[in-house]
Parts: sequence; structure tokens; C-alpha cells
Amino acid sequence: MRIAIVGTGYVGLVAGTCFAETGNDVIGLDVDAAKVARLSKGEIPIFEPGLSDLFSRSLREGRLSFTTSYDEAVKHAEIFFLCLPTPPLEDGSADTRHVLSAAREIAKRMSGHKLLVSKSTVPIGTNKEITDEVKKHYKGEFSVAANPEFLKEGTAIEDFLKPDRVVLGVNDNRAFETLSALYEPFVRTGAPIIRMDPASAELTKYAANGFLATKISFMNEIARLCEKTGADVDLVRIGMSKDARIGSAFLFPGIGYGGSCFPKDTRALVQSGRKCGLEMSIVNAAEKVNETQKLILFPRIKAHFNGSLSGKTIALWGLAFKPRTDDIREAPALALIEKLIEEGAKIRAFDPEAVANVKRIFGDKVYFAQSAYDALDGADALLLATEWNEFRTPDWERVKKLLRTPTVFDGRNIYQGATLRKLGFSYYGIGKP
Ligand SMILES: NC(=O)c1ccc[n+]([C@@H]2O[C@H](COP(=O)([O-])OP(=O)(O)OC[C@H]3O[C@@H](n4cnc5c(N)ncnc54)[C@H](O)[C@@H]3O)[C@@H](O)[C@H]2O)c1
Repeated sequence: MRIAIVGTGYVGLVAGTCFAETGNDVIGLDVDAAKVARLSKGEIPIFEPGLSDLFSRSLREGRLSFTTSYDEAVKHAEIFFLCLPTPPLEDGSADTRHVLSAAREIAKRMSGHKLLVSKSTVPIGTNKEITDEVKKHYKGEFSVAANPEFLKEGTAIEDFLKPDRVVLGVNDNRAFETLSALYEPFVRTGAPIIRMDPASAELTKYAANGFLATKISFMNEIARLCEKTGADVDLVRIGMSKDARIGSAFLFPGIGYGGSCFPKDTRALVQSGRKCGLEMSIVNAAEKVNETQKLILFPRIKAHFNGSLSGKTIALWGLAFKPRTDDIREAPALALIEKLIEEGAKIRAFDPEAVANVKRIFGDKVYFAQSAYDALDGADALLLATEWNEFRTPDWERVKKLLRTPTVFDGRNIYQGATLRKLGFSYYGIGKP
């Protein structure tokens, strides 16, 4: 099939590459000319495991190309996937401006039947707004579908190639059949293609993210109670997770969720409720808990240093909002850096992939180390913000030698407090004695 991917960011680039991998002819359209130039040369502007091999092969074999021109993309494609940003407006609701403007630009150039598919996370009713926008500029036949994306950064390629489900919000059989055929190679192991109306598809994505965010914040609140009472949240978690109705995923407490999806999608869901007179109190609470969770370790850090961080140096391991990505949008590490600097601390930070992105924000206010161990050199404590695998089993003797005082603040509960204490460290986790 001839496909245009409109917006070649984290979602668009992965979707386009995976569709090209299964033999489709894909053109990626982006307004960012510098990004298009890099992609056309074979350079990938983001870090996503497994993307590079598939991307290079399809580019080389001519199934994948890039442009800044709507003329070129519309001439090429029969299906358009809108993978555009839907950032929060001031009140938290999703800004669909980019999605609607792309639909308009496509409609102005359309001839024959075309299918526009929203992969962006968009509020209920956006499918109808896209339809109305296209109708203003095009009098022929067309279809609009909602196909929310569930990939996770860090495992995006695997998620896309082997989804646990494909949700298709469609108004007509033609759109359903086309999209089912396109996704068929990805669901051969039996994952369902779930057909529904566009409004339900749009809400499915928000409901899924709202639920996952709630699970995290629920456990973080339980962790707070553990800290007050002397219970150990890791034991509570394991005890809970053996109940099949609960399961073990997403029960890990930490310094909160970040990323481009959970924070913005929970706020947008709350606003969608408000717009029709409903208070989405559960997901609203999840978001409120998360906002304070990012700095939950801070009072303990301060107390450890007798109330003052002035002149102290903190080694910060992990900057990305989660492992295996360079994405730092709403990353808890950013909130920590700001707070530490405000309190007079110096920071020596290391992340395997996200340093360049954080450098753009903080410049020389932060020392960016060459390695995890370099970050520790002369620091007063280690603060772990992102659980990259390479941070999981460090050489603790070496860590101890490099730190001025052997102190670990574990923002993701990946270390064993008892073991570290035996080695002479002061250890602080989340919701653990
Ligand atoms: N990142 C994720 O993990 C993820 C997962 C599922 C769903 N989503 C949703 O997918 C959508 C895209 O997210 P993302 O993380 O890929 O965003 P992104 O910011 O990484 O990429 C968006 C791209 O769109 C381009 N763009 C902006 N306006 C444009 C226009 N008018 N025409 C053409 N290109 C334009 C930007 O230059 C950028 O390259 C959002 O709605 C997001 O909520 C994201």
C-alpha cells in the first residue's frame, strides 16, 4: 500500500519504518526540514532500540523516503497516518491544531478516495472534526479512522511489530478492510483487531493511559503509607501481585511517571470529563499524586545532609523519563535537577542516551559525566532517577571509593537496602524502611 506518515517523531518514525518493513511504500512528511534532511541521509534523530536496522534497510531498498512537501506526499499516498503532537493547552485539554491543519493541507490536494487515520492521541470527537475539516476543502469520497497507538518508547519496534491488540475506530467497511489488511502481518500470532466507532477508539487510548497512570500513583501512595508505618512496599507489592485480578505489571513505586503521554493524557482526560460536566476524580488524583511524587525523595536528601545542600555534589544516574529512550519530556530527573540547583547543590549527571537533550535545557549548570562512574567522582551521594539496566549491578566497592560519603538515594527501588547497608552505605528507597 502507498502510505504517508504525517509527523515523523517517536510514533511516526516507528510506524512508518514498520509499515515499510512489511513491504509498503512509505513516505514520511514532516514540517521540520532539518529532521527530514537527516532522515533522508539515513540518520535517525531519536534513540529507539531496533529502529536503526529496519530503518536503514527500508531506506536503502527504496520503500521509505521523506519529504517536507504535502504536494509530494498527497500525490504518493492512498492512506495518511496523522502522527502529530497533541500537546496540552493551558487548561490541560489536548491541542488538536496540528492534526486538523495537516488534515486541511491533505484535503486541499486530494483527488480520488483517500483514507486519513489519526494515530495521534486525540480527544473524543476529533474524528468528526477531521471529517468536517476535510469536507470544507474536498467534495469527493474519503474515509477518516481513529487508530490509537499503544507502543511504548524503549520497546516501540517490538510493540508495533507484535501488538497485543489493534484498535480501529471506523465509520465504514472500506476503511476497516484496508486497515485490517495493512495490520494483518502484525497480528498473525492471534492478537485481535478490534473494530469500534471512532469515539470509542479515541477514548480507549485515554482510558488505557489513565488506568496505567492510576496504577502507578496508587502504588506510590501505598509507598508513602509504608514509609510512615515501617512497612516495606516491595513486600506489599509482591503480596498483592499474586492475585490474578491485580497482576504484577505497573505496581512498581518510584519517583513518578513522566514522558510525553501519561502526564498529558491524564490531564486531557480530566478536561474531557469537565467539558461534559463530569469530574474524573480518580485520574485527577493520580495526576496530583504524581506531581508531588517526583520530589518525594527530596526531604530525605535534605535531611540526610542536615538541612542544607549548599556545596554538596549529587551524582545523578538517569535522565530519560524511562530506560531505553532518549526522551526527557516531563522526566522526573528534570524536576530533581531544578530543585537541587535551587538548593545550592552541584550535579554530575550521566545517562546512556539522554545527555544531549538535557544539555539543551540546562547547559553548563550541570556537569555531564562521560560514564556512570565518572559521575560519582567526588560526589556526596548517588541519586538514581532512571532504572537503565547498566545501573542495576554496579561495582559497589568502586562506587564507595569514588563517592565522598557512601550514600544512595534509589528513586526506582532497584537496589537492596540491606545489602548496601552491610557494605557501609546509607541507603534510601521509596516506601522502604
Ligand atoms: N511517544 C509515545 O510514546 C506515544 C505513544 C502513543 C501515542 N503517542 C501520541 O502520538 C502523537 C505523536 O507523538 P510523538 O511522541 O511521536 O510526537 P513527536 O513530538 O515526537 O513527533 C511529532 C512530529 O510531528 C511533526 N509535526 C508537527 N506539526 C506538523 C505538521 N503540521 N505537519 C507535519 N509534521 C508536523 C514534528 O516536527 C515532529 O517531528 C501524540 O498525540 C502522542 O500523544 C505517543
